[in-house]
Amino acid sequence: MAGPTPRSFARVRDEWNNWGERDPLWAIVSVPEHRGNRWDEAAFFRTGVERVDGLFARLRDSDLPVRDGTALDFGCGVGRLTQALARHFPSVVGVDVSPAMIRSARERNREPERVRFEVNPYPDLRAFGAGTFSFVFADIVLQHLPPPIALGYVAEFLRVVAPDGLVCFQLPSGPASPWLGWIPAAVLDPAYNWSRRGLRAVHLASPGWDTHWVARAGVMGAVNAAGGNLLRILAEPPIHGRLVNQTYAAAPRTMSSAPTGHPITGTG
Ligand SMILES: C[S@@+](CC[C@H](N)C(=O)[O-])C[C@H]1O[C@@H](n2cnc3c(N)ncnc32)[C@H](O)[C@@H]1O
Repeated sequence: MAGPTPRSFARVRDEWNNWGERDPLWAIVSVPEHRGNRWDEAAFFRTGVERVDGLFARLRDSDLPVRDGTALDFGCGVGRLTQALARHFPSVVGVDVSPAMIRSARERNREPERVRFEVNPYPDLRAFGAGTFSFVFADIVLQHLPPPIALGYVAEFLRVVAPDGLVCFQLPSGPASPWLGWIPAAVLDPAYNWSRRGLRAVHLASPGWDTHWVARAGVMGAVNAAGGNLLRILAEPPIHGRLVNQTYAAAPRTMSSAPTGHPITGTG
């Protein structure tokens, strides 16, 4: 029995570009009463500061300091998190697959001398050399991409981050309720044909966008294969109350000898 077909890279790009034209702030932070371009911009950007400052406090508590340098905000949308990252780093680059999102981000850019936004239309980060960034962040992005593509970007994050840098990316790992658990393996995985690669990954389809999840073991495998260590898994509120959600902190393997770099070797 075939499950729903996930959106392709091109379709994800086109749909997000469409959201970027129509209702970008709501598509990024989907609070029902702000639908139809009814987000107060200041309140919207405050959510970015809360997210970034909250994450950085947790990283400090986890003994994962972030060093100065240039940060990359992957899937930056209109720059909600990019601008918040600029409070912590001397320079920040936001990239997004959607030209409309990047146009909006540039229009709203409060610090163009330190913050820049670029369209990245590729399933990789070919525009950036190895070791360019001290911090790489991807929040509410990878879940919308077919998992093989999302994990390809994770490998790219580990390439473009500096040897003493840190990568943080958020990605759900599965349904919160056990009774939903049979659906992926029995119905959806065969449709994706990913189970053969040992990657248990499925998605919730909606008219607006897909939400995928990847089991923690799949994420750990991708990080290891890319020469990285998974250092921490920080719990996040469930998505739609239904999906177990977390932010992964990872670093190039050279960091494993640093005091903070005790790699995770199994997933809970
Ligand atoms: C839910 S929004 C999140 C935006 C931003 N991270 C934030 O939290 O404010 C998802 C963003 O990911 C972007 N996106 C989707 N696929 C992408 C890809 N392959 N590469 C870069 N950005 C992508 C979309 O255009 C959209 O701006």
